Amino acid sequence: MTHKSKPLILGIESSCDDTSAAVVCGPQVLSNVVANQELHAEVGGVVPEWASRAHLEKIHPVVQSALDKAGVKAQDLDAVAYTLGPGLQGSLHVGTSFAKAYAWALGVPSIPVHHMRAHVLAHVLEPEPSPGCPFLCLTVSGGHTQLVKVNTPWDMEVLGQTLDDAAGEAFDKVAKLMGLPYPGGPVVDRLAQQGDPEAFAFSRPRMEGFNWSFSGLKTQVLHFLKREQAADRTFVERRKADICASVQAAILDMLCAPLMDAAKQLGIQEVAIAGGVSANSGLRARLGELATSHGWNVYVPPFAFCTDNAAMVAAVGWLDFKEGLRGELGAAPSPRLPHLRTLAAPEEG
Ligand code: KG4
Ligand code: ZN
Repeated sequence: MTHKSKPLILGIESSCDDTSAAVVCGPQVLSNVVANQELHAEVGGVVPEWASRAHLEKIHPVVQSALDKAGVKAQDLDAVAYTLGPGLQGSLHVGTSFAKAYAWALGVPSIPVHHMRAHVLAHVLEPEPSPGCPFLCLTVSGGHTQLVKVNTPWDMEVLGQTLDDAAGEAFDKVAKLMGLPYPGGPVVDRLAQQGDPEAFAFSRPRMEGFNWSFSGLKTQVLHFLKREQAADRTFVERRKADICASVQAAILDMLCAPLMDAAKQLGIQEVAIAGGVSANSGLRARLGELATSHGWNVYVPPFAFCTDNAAMVAAVGWLDFKEGLRGELGAAPSPRLPHLRTLAAPEEG
């Protein structure tokens, strides 16, 4: 197999607790290796110091494995794309230092990538069809919840976002209150499938504009569980599927309300979801229903491209590389990046 016709891009992702490397040839994913760090499960949350140490141990073997699986030699690469932020500072340092040094040693450009932009642009990867611009993307992860209008891959507007907890965080915190393992999102999703979403009523606060607030829901669930458990200590164990289904239904209603409003106000019918929570089976089903009832074309990423992965980072690298955008070796990782527009673009603002 020869890949000479298109650029070969290595992507590196290390913003949180997943060490990942991928090789893409244009929109085609040749490999996407993700090493999850299971060590955080025992304490029920990511320990930043442990995460950066684990990245240090894993990054080289993960990159080598991505090259091997793609059948590509390091010397064949055209660029190295990496997550510059947002994320955990120590974790970002490992990935950015490795990526820039690797690119420098190979004599190819390094391309810094905004993690949230990468989640959105995972939609350009094959084999799924890509949304046409402009499209709306509901990006829902463990650290962020954003409604983004994608005018072009280089021009994105954040229409709304969470004012406190992210949607994934809401899933994880509720799971923790219930004594479920970390990360809670997938566990709540699985249990919810056997429960009644109307068993318990939780209010669905609505913020101004296209914004969200999830911290009130967590507090509601906390008080609800305390009250019920005071009356019956076996309550959570007996009703966990119904609790999960009811909480999930509230989160999904809250997530979809601004999305529906924005689609209507802006007259956009190309609608995508992205980020770890887009793996949620309830959200995927809900999008399918909205496609039918609202005439939307919906784009739901394959599972491998929902949670953190380097293929999405390599995808952005490919798009920016094609545009002639290049990063600098001095680019410093940043836990908070102000804007979703490309970091490599000169008019960053
Ligand atoms: O995008 P991601 O992998 O990492 C961040 O950038 O934050 O998202 C991780 C989040 C976690 O909060 C996790 O619980 C949530 O995505 N998540 C889910 C599901 N799978 C992952 N939440 C609900 N249902 C799922 N199936
Ligand atoms: Zn993410």
